[in-house]
Amino acid sequence: MGSRMPGLRHLVSIDDLSLDEIKKLFVHARAFGEDLRASAELCRGMIAASLFFEPSTRTRLSFESAMLRLGGGVITAADMRNLSASKGESLADTVRVVSGAYADIIVLRHSSEGAARLASQYASVPVINAGDGAHEHPTQTLCDLYNLWLERGRIEGLDVVLAGDLRYSRTIHSFAYALARFGANVVCVPAPGFEMPDYVLQRLREEFGVEPQRADAKSLGDLASQSDAVYLTPQKPHQLSLFTDARGFAVARVDALYMTRPQTERHPSGAQLENYVQLGKRQLAAESLRDAVVMHPLPRRDELSEEIDSDPRSIYFKQAARGVPIRMAILASLLGRLAVLEREPVVTARLYPVQTGPNPCANPTCISRTEARHVVPQYKVSSRLPLRVHCGFCSHEVALHLVGCSTTRHWHEPDSSELRKVRPDHLVFLADAAEAERLGFVAATRERSPA
Ligand code: NCD
Repeated sequence: MGSRMPGLRHLVSIDDLSLDEIKKLFVHARAFGEDLRASAELCRGMIAASLFFEPSTRTRLSFESAMLRLGGGVITAADMRNLSASKGESLADTVRVVSGAYADIIVLRHSSEGAARLASQYASVPVINAGDGAHEHPTQTLCDLYNLWLERGRIEGLDVVLAGDLRYSRTIHSFAYALARFGANVVCVPAPGFEMPDYVLQRLREEFGVEPQRADAKSLGDLASQSDAVYLTPQKPHQLSLFTDARGFAVARVDALYMTRPQTERHPSGAQLENYVQLGKRQLAAESLRDAVVMHPLPRRDELSEEIDSDPRSIYFKQAARGVPIRMAILASLLGRLAVLEREPVVTARLYPVQTGPNPCANPTCISRTEARHVVPQYKVSSRLPLRVHCGFCSHEVALHLVGCSTTRHWHEPDSSELRKVRPDHLVFLADAAEAERLGFVAATRERSPA
């Protein structure tokens, strides 16, 4: 590829990168990791802005360290109370200003799902999602995949246990998408009440062909004793290293065990943590975990006992250290200093603005709701028949009540086959017949099949 500059590429979701691009990042990261001080000219003269609207230790410091090690500079707004956002400035305006002359790349962490997507639509420089609410954390996933690749030599066909708060951990969501794409098998061991969200399972099923099945997790012993384990496998039976029987997939031998803390800052009040999964010497003694590496994005709380810190299988501090070389590779690639990225991302779901009617996204922590005054809601169509629509920012499924066509001004029931004829950009999401009427829509006469 030579030294060709990529088009303006962002890293908002782990899906923005092809598997080939991800593997190239690993190769560069490994080279950076061999001598962290050897590339101090690569991004000389360039500036990264870290905009952190939520607390961070590792992600921000490893990004800033990475940029400095590449010879670039860093400007930081880590305490966003000092920023104009506290005076009511919109995220879109903040990003427009920072990407104007201040910085060549933006690293953004925000508490609203979809914030990085929004930022990428306004920025004239690459935007990196350093965590958007409970949604995604693609650079942590790259770090996690990079660790698997180094420790196991491959990702394809590995058996990975994801444990803890699978509902609110953004690291889990991005990681699960990527593992599915790489053809790894995933066993979900959620803490009770913190199961993988439906919208994530739906995507895994519909876009990545992953079929969730009940897992027989007896061989995981104490770790899974309180949990309703679920086994997610890509539809490639030859890759199965596990075996199935009437009780579900039996988890025989695990390659990696990924723990997460309860994401209490995002929990609804009254969330129960009493039976939260624990990993200590006793749990790690399970036969199926004999060769597993133990990973954790950190920070940890009580779910990961310090008594296993010195166990050779525990790699979480090494995992955090490797955040620097992988982020060097990410920054240098997005800045066009490494030949890693194609001009256009391979997977791009088309997003449509909501032209008429209210915001169909019901997720209260979606950026389209937290910045409602400044954000035009967007949606993507994941299936035409039956019609299924997801929010373009937070990826949550949109509940369809009545669906109109902005040109014919007809409304339809969401399961009507007539909707197939409506162009995706003409869809209007209506709460009920009264709202439809108020907005000037009339009921379409429903096509009925002959009796
Ligand atoms: C994670 C995060 O912020 O989502 N931390 C990190 O970036 N290493 C995980 C967490 O906070 O639990």
